[in-house]
Amino acid sequence: MVLKDKFGRCINYLRLAVTDRCNLRCHYCLPEKFTNFLPKAHLLSYEEIMRLLRISSQLGISKLRITGGEPFVRNDLMKLLCAISDESLFESLHMTTNGVLTEPHIKELESFGFKSINLSLDSLSRDKFRLITKRDELPRVLSTLNALESSRIQAKINAVVMSEVNTDDILSFVAYTKEHDVSVRFIEEMPFNGTGRQPKNTWNHHVIKSHIEDHFELNSIPMNPGDTTQRFQIKGHKGEIGIIAAASRTFCGTCNRLRIGPRGDIQTCLYGAADTSLFDMFRSGASDALIADRIASIVAFKPKDGFTAEQSMINSGIHHASMATIGG
Ligand code: GTP
Ligand code: 5AD
Ligand code: SF4
Repeated sequence: MVLKDKFGRCINYLRLAVTDRCNLRCHYCLPEKFTNFLPKAHLLSYEEIMRLLRISSQLGISKLRITGGEPFVRNDLMKLLCAISDESLFESLHMTTNGVLTEPHIKELESFGFKSINLSLDSLSRDKFRLITKRDELPRVLSTLNALESSRIQAKINAVVMSEVNTDDILSFVAYTKEHDVSVRFIEEMPFNGTGRQPKNTWNHHVIKSHIEDHFELNSIPMNPGDTTQRFQIKGHKGEIGIIAAASRTFCGTCNRLRIGPRGDIQTCLYGAADTSLFDMFRSGASDALIADRIASIVAFKPKDGFTAEQSMINSGIHHASMATIGG
């Protein structure tokens, strides 16, 4: 079985957000005083998640990414990950985390077969980190990064590039890849900050690339279908860099992603609206076959690209949510 949309794209990559809560308050993601989190009773339980994952695997999902909010603020996350690993439902397991609570679990995550962990990290300076995230947690994030670097799990750094905030950190991150085998990905800022504020976005992927090229010679690595990242090697560097044109949306033509939120809401496009029907189906005793049919029919109507999806949202007067509820 393969999930396909009406444009012929195969959807085999599921991003599952296990919580909308987070222990940081990144400027581009969550308003500092945000309190409107989902009540605990509205989160899919671990049993319900496992059921959903079995159905997804039957539907041809082969890559699973655990996201949040911050995945590790959900109680007993490791129990869920252990169950997922035990059932060998997917070809590859990945996680996106802010790294604050992750370090003590790296050895076990390695044994569960996690292939890569993407760390959200927007500055290597402690003061700047505190300014962006409103928390003084850089030391714990750096210990996670160090532990990842000496594990078999591939480490990627996700750095959101914010005009007038951290653009002078770009070259420090590039320099970091000289001695460290990590991939640093510079991401265009998207309008998912939970306030409706539009980012300045003067630093798009072209600007980021030409800024780096003023200092380093970049050798391009070809993109594969489904990739969001333009990757580059730099001669003499152990790691590599990448640029994600997340707001320019240059990669929609080969998009293979499906998002499921902490309440079971399905989003077929990051820029689109969510379908909220799964939660009631779970709680009212729908069969696996009915749930699978519902997922397949939602996927069939995945929007052509992020611009079409955004336009439909604007037409219905819906604002973009915080990235913490969508899972990135
Ligand atoms: P890899 O599988 O390691 O390449 O990671 P990924 O890029 O799929 O996932 P990650 O959670 O690390 O996301 C990195 C950045 O890319 C985040 O800012 C995401 O919001 C953005 N991103 C991920 N998927 C999409 C997408 O489908 N559309 C857009 N526009 N941005 C995306
Ligand atoms: N724009 C771009 N990327 C974002 N992320 C969170 N909010 C935004 C935004 N507004 C990134 C985080 C995380 C990934 C899942 O999404 O840095 O690494
Ligand atoms: Fe896929 Fe939408 Fe992202 Fe484009 S913007 S890559 S269609 S999720």
